[in-house]
Amino acid sequence: MKLSLTLGFTTIPLLLALCAFGAAAQDMTARAPTPLTCGNSSAAVPMYYLAYPGAAVNDYFYSPSIGDIDIVSRGDGYNFRGVACYVFTTQALSTIPLFHVFGSTMPDNLYTTSAGERDLALENGYSDAGTVAYIYPSQICGSVPFYRLYNAPGTAHYYTINGTERNSLLATSGWSDEGIAGYVLDWSLCSA
Ligand SMILES: *[C@@H]1O[C@H](CO)[C@@H](O)[C@H](O)[C@H]1NC(C)=O
Ligand SMILES: *[C@@H]1O[C@H](CO)[C@@H](O)[C@H](O)[C@H]1NC(C)=O
Repeated sequence: MKLSLTLGFTTIPLLLALCAFGAAAQDMTARAPTPLTCGNSSAAVPMYYLAYPGAAVNDYFYSPSIGDIDIVSRGDGYNFRGVACYVFTTQALSTIPLFHVFGSTMPDNLYTTSAGERDLALENGYSDAGTVAYIYPSQICGSVPFYRLYNAPGTAHYYTINGTERNSLLATSGWSDEGIAGYVLDWSLCSA
């Protein structure tokens, strides 16, 4: 199986509009004003994810790009799972790049903010898919942990903001804890 990726962001304007609409619909006084060191959360967009089904082989693909989601789901047989979190597609204040590399022998999509880890993966046969998004390096600006897990039998990295889901996967055979990939936004912050 081969992943075909179109680099660059083709996120449709409607999604930006949805986020901005959410902002207007929320009680603005319920939250502290956004400090000037934070990205403008109205500019955050959904990062979608796909799953490749399989017992022996499984894999997960994340992207805020509708174009890439479309290509990988139709071209490579991945199933659409939904919105994993909200991210920036240009470098917002205080954010850092989330790099994406992928291995095609045993399909694995790896997302990391560490250039060192990315480079090590590239030395080990992974291909470079560039910067997929911009996220916070620490828990600032109302962000939430983007937990990272690894499934050794399936050579699969999985990322989630859902702590309950994380814990239930960790209680399942085959999964291990790889900490936190970075800090992302959830719908409530996007709408704040
Ligand atoms: C954040 O972005 C929204 C939507 O583009 C805009 O209306 C608002 O003025 C921005 N806020 C700041 C503080 O730049
Ligand atoms: C979090 O994960 C749990 C367990 O998978 C699930 O039941 C719950 O609906 C999820 N919560 C959200 C907000 O998606």
